[in-house]
Formats: sequence, structure tokens, C-alpha cells
Amino acid sequence: MEKLLDVRDLRTYFYTYRGVVKALNGVYLTIKDGEVVGLVGETGSGKSVTARSIMRLIDPPGRIVGGNVFFEGRDLLKLSDREMTKIRGRKISMIFQEPIIALNPVLTIRTQIIETIMANRDVSVNEAEEIALELLEAVGLPNPKMIMKRYPFELSGGMAQRVFIAMAISANPRLLIADEPTSSLDVTIQAQILDLLNRLMEEGRISSMLYITHDLGVAAELCHRIAVMYGGRVIEFASTEEIFKEPLHPYTRSLLKAIPRLGYYDELYTIPGRVPDLVNPPSGCMFHPRCPYMKDVCKKEIPEYVEIDNSHYVACHFAGVKDVR
Ligand SMILES: Nc1ncnc2c1ncn2[C@@H]1O[C@H](COP(=O)(O)OP(=O)(O)OP(=O)(O)O)[C@@H](O)[C@H]1O
Ligand SMILES: [Mg+2]
Repeated sequence: MEKLLDVRDLRTYFYTYRGVVKALNGVYLTIKDGEVVGLVGETGSGKSVTARSIMRLIDPPGRIVGGNVFFEGRDLLKLSDREMTKIRGRKISMIFQEPIIALNPVLTIRTQIIETIMANRDVSVNEAEEIALELLEAVGLPNPKMIMKRYPFELSGGMAQRVFIAMAISANPRLLIADEPTSSLDVTIQAQILDLLNRLMEEGRISSMLYITHDLGVAAELCHRIAVMYGGRVIEFASTEEIFKEPLHPYTRSLLKAIPRLGYYDELYTIPGRVPDLVNPPSGCMFHPRCPYMKDVCKKEIPEYVEIDNSHYVACHFAGVKDVR
């Protein structure tokens, strides 16, 4: 499998009245062609900012201050705005948490989906209409013709997300970024949307995906590899199997304990302490104030992000030392 996306040392800051929010502090992330990668972490860890930085959708007071986002071998951060506009939608598209908000409230589904298709593909209105009907069917919407006439507020959250997914895949993008696409939906609908994404992968309608969630269990169901974020960095990245069987970072291990259904603990375990303040982050390893294995060096030095095992990456001073764990 070829590397489709290769994010290196990505840094994004927000210049606010409170000070500089260092939202991304050197993110490394790769996605191979045909792969689903999960991006997991607590609230505020930088998952959405990572997604928006890849898409170059960071607005002031935010700014991407360093790093590279190689996509198909080209650094997206070096493209002109015009070139980047062509990448968005056609090559990389995104789905969000709140599909109803993401859709335009005053336009029918027909207008929106046809506009999207025509913006990204060289087709006539009639052809776009046919593609739209086929896509709405593919995302499991009953009676696509009826749906086309509706306005977003006339759809349930689950239906709106399906419409949004149909639009996102309409240009056959090489990469789909899904930012917590099910978290605004109720549990049964969440499961249906996950099934749908799985099916669209199998059918080849989605080729590669970055799936953002705070739920490791959900990531496990969908993803080949999982990247765990903490304090604006990926602190562990490995195959889903390795993350569950051989987690190396203490934070990843705490997250695993926090999944009740794995049966590690009878009661839901919550990680003691708070997420770091990104204006005045802890020195050294940002996880050190919450880490049960903290040593002096952890307060002083930022651990490097290194490959410990074959394709198992981790940023922890003691990741390779068995007896400290
Ligand atoms: N427009 C903004 N202005 C200032 N700070 C921002 C802005 N957007 C994001 N941040 C900060 O960047 C950090 C990372 O935010 P991000 O939205 O990426 O978190 P997340 O991992 O997606 O969390 P969640 O699970 O809640 O969606 C947070 O500290 C957040 O407050
Ligand atoms: Mg988010």
C-alpha cells in the first residue's frame, strides 16, 4: 500500500486574547491507499484541528505555523488557494458532526447535491441528477426522488448525515475525513451510519478514510490503524490489533481501561486529572501530571515520536522499558 497522506510535524496555533493556544504541537500521521485510520483522543486533544489543517480550513485567529501535509506526494501547505480548492471536494472531502448545520437550510437537497456533483465532475444537469439518485440509494435512503425535493430541516439527523455522505463521496474522492459523524445521532442510528461507512468501503465508494472519534471502541470496529492524540500530538500510532493488545503509551492504556465493554473494570474508569491547558502546557511530556509512571525526565524533556516496533510509533520516554509499565 502506498502512502496517500503523510503529515509531518504539523503545528497549528490560535492567537487569542488569552494567549497562544498551541493546538497542534508536531502531529505525525500517515494514511495508506485503501486504509481507514482512526484518530482518537479526549476533547480538546486536537482531532478537529488536525482535520481542518489537512484541508487548510484554519481561519484567523488560527494559523498553520509549521510542518508538511503530503498528499499524493505534494505538500498541500505549499499549494496556491486555487489549487487547494480543487483538492477539496474532488480529492479530499469531509463529513462533520452536525450534518443539518453543514447543509444549506434554504436549498433543497436536489439543488445542493446537484451543485456539488457539477462542481466536481464534468457532467450535465441530467447526468448529475442520475448520479444523485444513484448515490442517495447507495447511502441507504428510501425513495431518493422524494428526498431530493426536501429541505434539510425536513430530514432526521440520520437521514441528513446520509445525504451529506452521498455528497461527500459524489466526486469519488481519494480520501474521506469523517469528524465524529455519528456523535450527534442516537445510538441505533450511530450503528447504522457505521455500518453504512463499512459497506461503502467494501463497495469501493470510499477508498481511504480518516475517522475521528473519542471512542476507541468505535475506532476498533472501523479502522485498520489507530492514532491516539494527546495535547496536540499523536502520542501513539499502530495497527488496531497492537493498540488493543500491546499499547505502549500510558495514556493509551488509560483510554483502554475507560472502555467499559472490554471488561477491564467493572465500573467506568475515568482518567484522573485534566486535559492540558494548551496556552500554558505542562513542561516536558504533556501527559506527565496524569501519568502513573512519571519520572523526573518526563517533567523536563519532551519525548520524541519514534518507531519502537515495526510500524508502532510512540512518544513516551519509557515506552520501550517493560518494567516501568
Ligand atoms: N477557533 C479557535 N480559536 C481558539 N482555539 C481553538 C479554536 N479551534 C480550536 N481551538 C483549540 O484547539 C484545541 C484543539 O481543539 P479541537 O477542536 O481540535 O479538539 P478535538 O480533539 O476535536 O475535541 P472534541 O472531541 O471536543 O471535538 C482546543 O484547545 C481548542 O480550544
Ligand atoms: Mg472535534
